[in-house]
Amino acid sequence: MVEIIEAECGRYKEEDIKAGANAIKKGNLVVFPTETVYGLGGDATSDQACQKIFKAKGRPSDNPLIVHFNSIMEIKEYTMWNKVPFHDQLEKLWPGPLTVIAEKNDKICSSASAGLDTIGVRIPDCDLARELILRSGVPIAAPSANASGRPSATSIDHIRKELGDMAEIMYKGQVPHYGIESTVIQPVGETCLILRPGAYTEVDLLKIFKRVEYAKIGEKVVSPGTKYRHYSPEKPLFRAEKFQIKDIISGRHDMIPILTDQSGADMNCKYISLGNANDPYDVSRHLYDALRRLDSSNASWGIIEMFPRTGYFGSIMNRIDKASIQFDADLL
Ligand code: TXA
Ligand code: MG
Repeated sequence: MVEIIEAECGRYKEEDIKAGANAIKKGNLVVFPTETVYGLGGDATSDQACQKIFKAKGRPSDNPLIVHFNSIMEIKEYTMWNKVPFHDQLEKLWPGPLTVIAEKNDKICSSASAGLDTIGVRIPDCDLARELILRSGVPIAAPSANASGRPSATSIDHIRKELGDMAEIMYKGQVPHYGIESTVIQPVGETCLILRPGAYTEVDLLKIFKRVEYAKIGEKVVSPGTKYRHYSPEKPLFRAEKFQIKDIISGRHDMIPILTDQSGADMNCKYISLGNANDPYDVSRHLYDALRRLDSSNASWGIIEMFPRTGYFGSIMNRIDKASIQFDADLL
């Protein structure tokens, strides 16, 4: 049986952490909040614990996990952190929604890195998560707490439906601040390769690196995760420019639009909310829940509004592109 504990970033009790740390020490799994999305965590030094994570998610075994640390000192104990270009400046972006690929040492088990000699390293901006790591005494490997291929989980209700009782403890709180996953980068000399865009954008990274490039599928240095289907609802989802959607849905009762509240008010129709268009963080917090609402709605199709492909909205569009196909009337 899974134990649900009401606690979140900024609001937890000492004994809440003890329960989670005990589960990690036993080699069991814990669902915990971060500032991005919920993680499904296990001891990053234990092959057995990490294999439980792959099994619970149905995750392909060649897709490595992100390892969460409590401090820079701890990162140095488990990785060749000082070899990472611009590591001292990257440290200033933590705690925060950033994952950096770094060479690991033997203390991190090979299941966590999917056999690679590198891992994704991150210090989450959530005191509950960092305290859990500290009390567990080991770094915590944690992918997003969703079934493989599904949108990342931003509420415990999503997680219970998809992962059942696979974790011993689940911390239940509000939707995490960002609602989409961390920026994953691979520093290569003076170039920063973005493997997955997130809240830290090109603009932030250009303050540190000479160049920023986006990894493309098929290129040599690519994040294993990028080759798999991602963030997808079960029902077909189209994307289209806001101004096109009203015409597309007119007379089509089997298609539900996924819109910001401003667009919903303009179109005066039933819609699934993406929150406030003027606050990109509100939009990202709503995104994955909206995709799941499409699946539980009566509609056969969804159509989601598009955003500018720059800045943080660009990171949101990265997820929307992966979850949807460009609208084309011939496809209906
Ligand atoms: O915000 C987040 O990053 C969340 C929270 C829980 O921290 N975690 C998360 O983990 O999104 P996950 O496993 O769902 O995504 C990890 C991504 C995958 O695309 C994976 O391929 C990539 O990071 N990755 C992990 N280790 C890597 C490595 N050694 N080399 C290249 N890519 C790696
Ligand atoms: Mg994931």
